[in-house]
Order: sequence, then structure tokens, then C-alpha cells
Amino acid sequence: MQSIEFYRSEFISYLEKRVETQEPRNLYEPITYILNLEGKRLRPVLVLMAAEIFEVDYKKALDAALSVEVFHNFSLVHDDIMDRAPLRRGKPSVHEKWNINTGILSGDAMLIVAYQLFENYENPMFRDLAKLFSKTALEVCEGQQYDMDFEERDDVTIPEYLKMIEYKTAVLVAATLKMGAIVAKAPKDAQDAVYDFGLNLGIAFQIKDDFLDVFGDSETFGKQVGGDIIENKKTFLYLKALELAKPEQKKELLDLYSIRPEDPTAKINSIKEIFIDSGTAKITETAIEGYTQRAFKSLERLDVPTDKKASLQQFGENLMRRQV
Ligand code: IPE
Ligand code: IPE
Ligand code: MG
Ligand code: MG
Ligand code: MG
Repeated sequence: MQSIEFYRSEFISYLEKRVETQEPRNLYEPITYILNLEGKRLRPVLVLMAAEIFEVDYKKALDAALSVEVFHNFSLVHDDIMDRAPLRRGKPSVHEKWNINTGILSGDAMLIVAYQLFENYENPMFRDLAKLFSKTALEVCEGQQYDMDFEERDDVTIPEYLKMIEYKTAVLVAATLKMGAIVAKAPKDAQDAVYDFGLNLGIAFQIKDDFLDVFGDSETFGKQVGGDIIENKKTFLYLKALELAKPEQKKELLDLYSIRPEDPTAKINSIKEIFIDSGTAKITETAIEGYTQRAFKSLERLDVPTDKKASLQQFGENLMRRQV
């Protein structure tokens, strides 16, 4: 087993070799643009790590890793259109730099490329990978629809929120680990254990994403800080604050979440204050820790050497402490 950094750099070399701009440029340039922006590459690294945990050379999993990264980036291109997000990884989002139609079509092409990459595997592996991928991709769409539906609703519950983030984010993290396990021909119960690990890690990851959207450092975060507040997103912080805030702060929060001011600075600052004063920020950090610990519990079911489990644990710890 190598270091997390090793898998990241091997993946980046592979991506650079495999992804290049072709004609028509207006279709392919946005694809190479988004894929070459500096993302964390968490999902492909997990595919490669899972393959090696089950004793197969990570090189065999590179196409599956590339597929999930292309799919993830496709989802970001379309997500930024839906969320009206101007910034991605510190640079203009695709629809800002080009236009919405370009974002739609380049995104569509990326989804197809993601599927196509599985053609590099023979059956039954091809079938198993493609099947898992289709199921996951459809769930991501469902999660994204709930996310948008919730913007317009004022009765969203925390269990509904948790289902929404499980679908929009966590199932893909879970699937990356299972893909590595499929490539390594790991037994079914081991595939399920790493899937569950990824699912809880993914939930922790999205709650942290919500947290950073409010409390991240605008110099390094790479996305518009306060973007979820601007869009009235029903995040973990918002829903928890409605439970915890005193009556007048709760009323203020509800009022602020019913408007879309031209200059959102005052709205963002007031809501940030409510999140801190009500103890919501603290409780959110505890929830992130809780889901990460729950993920670690799934590793107990996994019959692999301790140093391999330790690498996954390290990965989870890093995610919990991340600032971007
Ligand atoms: C952003 O994912 C979208 C979410 C599911 C929260 P990442 O935070 O992994 O984005 P990059 O790829 O590192 O930019
Ligand atoms: C993204 O959720 C989930 C998907 C892209 C499927 P967010 O909308 O919170 O992701 P960011 O914050 O824009 O990266
Ligand atoms: Mg978004
Ligand atoms: Mg979104
Ligand atoms: Mg977000």
C-alpha cells in the first residue's frame, strides 16, 4: 500500500495522458478546462486505494478512477448552472467562462465519456461496474432534484436532508470504493463493507461542505463563500439553527431565507452570526465527527490487514479536518 499522495499523483499523470482537447473545440475545451482545474481528486484516489486494499495493482483500476472523476466533474458543471455558482476551484465555472448551453452539452459529453471508460473492462467486470455506475448516477440525479425542490420548501426535515445528501453526494463516494473492490474481485461482503464506509464518509463530507460554504476562507476555499445562503439552500446548518435558535433569531433566519437581496453581504453576515450564537456551528462539527466515526465502524467488518484499514482511516481523518 502506498501513500494517499502517491495515488493522487499517479492518477493525475494518467488523467493528463488520457484527456486532451479535440474538435470541435467548444465542446472539448470546457471538458479539459474543468478536469485540469485543481480538484482534490478524492474519488479516484479512493478507487485506486480500494483496489490495492484487496490486493490488485492500482493500475488496473485507473480507468474506473478516471470514469468517476469525469462523472464527478460533469455533475459539477451542471450543478454550477443549477446553483448559479460563479466560481469553481478558484476559477470561473464553465457556464461563466463560456455560457449555459456550452455547460449543458460539454457536461452531457462528459457523462458519456464516463460510461465509455468502462469499455476497457471485460465481462463480468464490465457489467458489474456499469450496473453500479448507472444506479449511482441516477441516485445523484434524484439527490440533485431534492436539493432544488428543498430551496422552495419551508418544511424540510433533517431526515429528509440526510436522504438528499446521501443521494447527491454520498452514494458516489461509496461507489468509488466498491468499484475498486469489483476490479480486485473482492468478496461480496467486503464490497458491502467498503460501500458502507464510503456512504457514511460521504455524508460527513457533504455536511463539512455545507459548513465550509459558510465558514470557509474565501482566499482558499475556491467557491463563492455564502453561496448556499444566497440560494436559500436547506443545509444542515440552516435546519439545525431552526431547532436551536431562540424565537427571535429563528424568525430572523426564516425572514432572511425568504429574500434574495441584490447585495447579499448583510444577509450572509447575519445568518453566520445566528449559526455561531445558536451553537449550530459547534453541533455541525460534532455531526461531521459522528458520521466519520460511523464510517470507521464499517471498517471493523472488513477482513484486511490493519495497515490497509489505517490508510482508509487516515483518508477519513483528512477529510474531516480539510479547509477546502
Ligand atoms: C464538491 O466535491 C461537490 C460535493 C459533492 C460537495 P469536491 O469537494 O470533492 O470537489 P473537488 O473535486 O475537490 O473540487
Ligand atoms: C453538489 O452539492 C453535489 C453534486 C454536484 C452532485 P453542492 O452544490 O453543495 O456542491 P458544491 O458546493 O457546489 O461543490
Ligand atoms: Mg453547488
Ligand atoms: Mg448543488
Ligand atoms: Mg456545497
